[in-house]
Amino acid sequence: MNPSSATPSRTDTGIAGDTGPGAADYRRSHVGAALAAAYHDDFTARLPGRYWATVEQPLLADLLAEASSRPLDQMHHLDVASGSGRVLAWLQPRTARSTAIDISDDMLAHARAAVPAAAFVVGDASTMRFGQPFDLVTAFRFFLNAGPELRADVLDRIGECLAPGGLLVANIHAQPWSTLGLWRRAKRRLGHPADSVLTAADFGQLLADHGFEVVAERTYGYLPLTRRIGPGRLADAFCAADRRLNGLLPSRNPAACCWLVAARRIALGTGAGSGA
Ligand SMILES: C[S@@+](CC[C@H](N)C(=O)[O-])C[C@H]1O[C@@H](n2cnc3c(N)ncnc32)[C@H](O)[C@@H]1O
Repeated sequence: MNPSSATPSRTDTGIAGDTGPGAADYRRSHVGAALAAAYHDDFTARLPGRYWATVEQPLLADLLAEASSRPLDQMHHLDVASGSGRVLAWLQPRTARSTAIDISDDMLAHARAAVPAAAFVVGDASTMRFGQPFDLVTAFRFFLNAGPELRADVLDRIGECLAPGGLLVANIHAQPWSTLGLWRRAKRRLGHPADSVLTAADFGQLLADHGFEVVAERTYGYLPLTRRIGPGRLADAFCAADRRLNGLLPSRNPAACCWLVAARRIALGTGAGSGA
């Protein structure tokens, strides 16, 4: 696969560096060294990074233990839209082999430095083909902002990349009635370019439409996650409060920002293609 020829273009939401339909094409949203560095900084040196380490990683470990029918260290893993590699860095040492694909070479530069043992592909996940099937595919902070066509194409390619019975683990991070969802909708009403919102129910339906069956889920994220908070006591208090709310409030709660889901591939795709 060839490196993307996309040029930098982005509408900054100020929240952990994502863009949505405000960008002409999500494929261009994280192209550019400065954008990639800012995203990497969010997830290594600011509240989103602390949140990932202390709230999301334990939820992911728990979800994988519930959903996987075989040990993680026997699985071949593909991280789709890997970005600067935070999910890859956590999974690569736990799996038999990890491969990362992202359209932004700038984002992957950070992932390569952090996870030298992984294999990397700069390319478009909506046209990806690999010679060997994967047992586990992850895709974090991607489907929400990707937009309908890209979502559908990437789900189909993931279905083709997965071995029968393989697992897709993905999240969405702005349900419409969550703090972040309300913020995004208010921005849109005020005429600003606004990012996507998506309910767990709608994403669950999309998964079903593309041949996936939900086998485990976690609902989390009640407080507004902002990169404006650095690491330290405030970040730790934020994460502790959010963990507490996650434990207290019911799952599939529409007031939660995030839905983390493990879905098993039940429909056969068109088969693994030839070489990435
Ligand atoms: C918000 S970042 C998420 C990165 C990482 N998964 C994480 O959770 O930190 C979204 C990523 O999707 C990538 N991306 C967008 N369109 C893509 C496509 N068509 N194929 C592969 N990657 C894509 C962007 O370059 C960006 O790195």
